[in-house]
Amino acid sequence: MSGLRFEDKIVLVTGGSSGLGAEASRQFIDEGARIFVMDLAEKGILGRLGEEKATFFQGNVGKPEDCETAIRTCIDKYGRLDILFHNAAQPTPMTTVPFHDLAKFQEIINTNLCSLFYLARIAIPQMQKQGKGVIVVTASTSALGGEYGMASYAASKAGLLNLMRTMAIDHARDNVRINAICPGYMPTPMTEGLGDLINVVQESIPQGRGGDPKEVARAALFLASEDASYMTGHALVVDGGWSAHSGAPNLLKYVPQQVSRQ
Ligand SMILES: NC(=O)c1ccc[n+]([C@@H]2O[C@H](COP(=O)([O-])OP(=O)(O)OC[C@H]3O[C@@H](n4cnc5c(N)ncnc54)[C@H](O)[C@@H]3O)[C@@H](O)[C@H]2O)c1
Repeated sequence: MSGLRFEDKIVLVTGGSSGLGAEASRQFIDEGARIFVMDLAEKGILGRLGEEKATFFQGNVGKPEDCETAIRTCIDKYGRLDILFHNAAQPTPMTTVPFHDLAKFQEIINTNLCSLFYLARIAIPQMQKQGKGVIVVTASTSALGGEYGMASYAASKAGLLNLMRTMAIDHARDNVRINAICPGYMPTPMTEGLGDLINVVQESIPQGRGGDPKEVARAALFLASEDASYMTGHALVVDGGWSAHSGAPNLLKYVPQQVSRQ
């Protein structure tokens, strides 16, 4: 026994070519796993990870046939699927519903929400056959409440959480655990478009900074590991305290600070 949490585990990571998915892929490999990355984008990451530890499948999680082929290819290659980390998503246009392009709305719901259904309907029967399996989904703090100008993304991520919870209770007795992480803001290619607005976002986070994808990946790996063996149907928030505050303005900025009595 090496003591590595994922020794010889087979992990399928969607959106593993970039950002959080790439970081999680690295951490899974460091902890002994072999990974199967499904992504729309080129396999650049795999060169750095090592071909013997990682396989790339170019596919669209918004297409049921691609999801089925990816999972079947993974099982054909490795014989099993221990962990599905469904993390791929596309960002939202910043707009309100009357101005939101209809096709774009449907595309985002399909990519970010329906994709979990497309993947899980193939992955869960395999996990039932194996007698065990784990699914971890990347939702967002956008799933926890309304988000100004982010109708499609916030709806897709909120739907993802309740699909996750429902599958978790439906399959708890199959020994299939299903949980989600809810990251707050992280600097990744997805958030590059924010430009200078990043300062506004960071200012609103109690810890005063965005999350490092390494910190967020560690939470995903925790849920995927045996350390979380009694957790299912849980949404684990990783957001520097962002969702802990009520939305009220920070009046502390405007009142004289108390001097410590110490
Ligand atoms: N960055 C943030 O601030 C933030 C905050 C909360 C949640 N998230 C979530 O974290 C996850 C990872 O995002 P990230 O920040 O690492 O972004 P990213 O853009 O760096 O990575 C997303 C990856 O998903 C892939 N992808 C997109 N659409 C796809 C599709 N249809 N099929 C297959 N692959 C597809 C992209 O090619 C890319 O490799 C996403 O679910 C995102 O919604 C991100």
